Parts: sequence; structure tokens; C-alpha cells
Amino acid sequence: MRNIGRSAGAASVVLVGLDSESMGMVRETLAAEAVLPNSSVAFGDALAVLDRTTPDVVIVGYTRAVEAALALAEELRRSQPALVMVALADAPDSSAILGAMRAGYKEFVVLPDDAARLRQVVHEAAFRPADDEEKGRVVALTGAKGGVGTTTLAVHLAAELAGIHRVLLMDMDFGMGDVAPMMDISGRDSVADLLPRADRLDERMLTSAVMVHRTKVNVLTTPDDMESIGPVRADDVYNLISVAAKAYQWVIVDCGTYYDEAVAMTLNVADTVVLVTTPDVTSVRDAFRRVRTLNVLGIERERIRLVVNRYHKAAYVSKKDISTNLGLHIAATVADDGRHVEQAVNEGKIIREVNRRCDAARDIANLVAVLTEDPEDIEIPEPEASGGWLSGLFGRR
Ligand SMILES: Nc1ncnc2c1ncn2[C@@H]1O[C@H](COP(=O)(O)OP(=O)(O)OP(=O)(O)O)[C@@H](O)[C@H]1O
Ligand SMILES: [Mg+2]
Repeated sequence: MRNIGRSAGAASVVLVGLDSESMGMVRETLAAEAVLPNSSVAFGDALAVLDRTTPDVVIVGYTRAVEAALALAEELRRSQPALVMVALADAPDSSAILGAMRAGYKEFVVLPDDAARLRQVVHEAAFRPADDEEKGRVVALTGAKGGVGTTTLAVHLAAELAGIHRVLLMDMDFGMGDVAPMMDISGRDSVADLLPRADRLDERMLTSAVMVHRTKVNVLTTPDDMESIGPVRADDVYNLISVAAKAYQWVIVDCGTYYDEAVAMTLNVADTVVLVTTPDVTSVRDAFRRVRTLNVLGIERERIRLVVNRYHKAAYVSKKDISTNLGLHIAATVADDGRHVEQAVNEGKIIREVNRRCDAARDIANLVAVLTEDPEDIEIPEPEASGGWLSGLFGRR
């Protein structure tokens, strides 16, 4: 998953058991470092608040409630191991410091003496390793137009990768998604169930919401009706993909062809955007428009992989024409293989289960290489100055 800089801002902090004087000192110390809440939380409410907000740092009033502060730390050490806990005391006292450290407090500070250290700890928490954690790769597939095989390729790509990796296939083609019927699965939670809870989503919640296909692909479906999705916030989509990228090595997202807020965010954070077209004039023309839209959305050409599906030797538009007209190297082609693809659809199987050696199965196996190819090795053709012979259809001249 690409880091789009959301986590690099100020640290979020929760304050527990502080009186107004301590609050004032903390506020003064951290004004430039952190997003501070207006009030301090009582010990009794602390776990619930911290569970809901999962901040970077918690600052706990120590001296006047030592037992409650120790009990809270013991609990948090288990439930939120990445949380930075700071004990704020009235005076330094070596046995109190020792007790706090044993319970899991990272720092024991007395203000204003330790102001610089508190600032440092909070500053570092905003850039803590949790943000740089090994994240899975996000691959977004989008079609030049409907029906070019975006879902077929998303499903099969996921199935190929699932042989050796942990893979999540997510259907973001809201209301039109056909991952579930193509994989012959139904039930469980969909994207619509997770998005409203995205701000408190964790890996456990996600992995218990997915369905596991026999290929070992974990699947998060989309509901059939747009209505049950409700308004979608880009932030929620970001959180969902972020959690997915922590839980899985590969997150394959079927984005369909309609660009809404969710798809725009997905494309933004995707490491690779696979643009699927077929070798006919209307698809290539629509692919051309897509490339332009992707450009407007800020998706660099280096991240786009053009895949020509249903390719056959007698295709009306040649590979060279597709490439020069779109100004994109063709990363892969997948053979037009109606017989085996249809049989797979009819029998609720994936293509390699129907015939491991057929043209489509072979090409799909090769598709994986497209994703692992070093972008440095990819030569990007310049769009023809004249616009190529299809350009009259593209409205470029
Ligand atoms: N390589 C192929 N050879 C033959 N038929 C194919 C191939 N790829 C896809 N198809 C067929 O094309 C049809 C459309 O495929 P698919 O549903 O994957 O497309 P899509 O782009 O996701 O469509 P939608 O716009 O409805 O989401 C299906 O009937 C599928 O079986
Ligand atoms: Mg589809």
C-alpha cells in the first residue's frame, strides 16, 4: 500500500485522570506536537475511550491515582501494545518510576522539568514504526469499460497469488459487483458492513468478516444494492484498505469501471493499477479516456499496468496500435478463450480447475509476473505525436 502521508501528521493523544493544572501544562508543552482533546477522561472510562479512539499516546495522571494508573497500564499493555503510555507525576520518585516502568509506562515525566522529553516522545509516536510496518501490496483493477473482464482477471489473479500468499480480494464495484457470483460464494459481511465501522476496524474484525474461497482467497464482497452502502467517506475506505494491507500480503481490489469516492481513494493508495481493455476500437477508446482520468486523479503512468484481455491474433486493433495510442506498454495479454472461461463460469470453477493448460489459464499464471516486475524495467512508449490512427475516435484532433 502506498503511503499517502496520512499518518505523518501530529500524534493523537488521550489524557486520563489529569486535573486542570496538569491539563494546562500538557497543553503548553505539546501545543505544536499533538492533537489534544479538550478534556481529560476519568479512569473508569479510559479503556472504552482508548479502545474507540486508538490514539498514538496516552498521558496518565499518576501521583494521585497510582493504583488505577498501574491497573490501566497492565490492561493496555495487552490490548494496545503499540500505544505509547506516559505517566505524568507531580515529583520524581525512584520507586514510583520503577513501578510505572514495570507496569508498561514508556516514560515517567514531571512538568515543566521534563517538557522537552515529553515533546520528543509524542513527536516520535506520530512516526512510530507501526506506520512504516510491512504493508501488503494493493492492486486495483479497473476496466476500460464494462464487460472487458475486470472481475474475471481480479478473481483469477487473486487465486494465482493465494497459492503461496495471504490474499484478500475486495469488491469495490458498489452495487454492480460480481465477485461473489463469479466465485460462487454468498453470505457473511460485505464492504457495506465494514465501512461504517472503518474508524475502529482492526485486523481481527476484518478477517472474521471475510469469506474464504477454496482457492484460499479471502473475499470481501459488495452488496447487490447501492442503498445498503450509504454515503461513503474516503477516510473510511482508506482505513479499510489500510487494515487489509496489514492483514494480507496482497489486497486485490475490483474497482469496476465507475469512479466514485471509494474507487478514487483505492486507486490513490494502490501500488499497482491494472487497466483492463479488450482489443477492439470502443474499448481502446475508453481505455484512452481512462488513462486521462487516471492522470487527472494523480495516478502516475509508472503505476499503471495495461492488460489486454480476450486477445487473439486476428484482433482488430493490434498490440502495437493499442500501446502507441494509449502511450502505455502492454504489460500482459490474456487469450480470448470463450470455451474454457464459459465452462468455468457455468461450473462455478476457476479456469485452471477446468483446464490447467488452456491458453487463458497459462496467461493468467503469467499475469502474476506483471505485478512483481520491476517498474524500472518497464519501457513506457510515448503517445504518437500525431495521436496514432485511432486518435480521430479519441477526440484528440
Ligand atoms: N479471456 C477471456 N476469454 C473469454 N471470455 C472472457 C475472458 N475474460 C472474460 N470473459 C467473459 O467476459 C464476460 C465479462 O467478464 P467480467 O464479468 O469479468 O467482466 P467485467 O469487466 O467485470 O464486467 P462488468 O462491467 O459487468 O463488471 C464474462 O462472460 C466472462 O466470462
Ligand atoms: Mg465486474
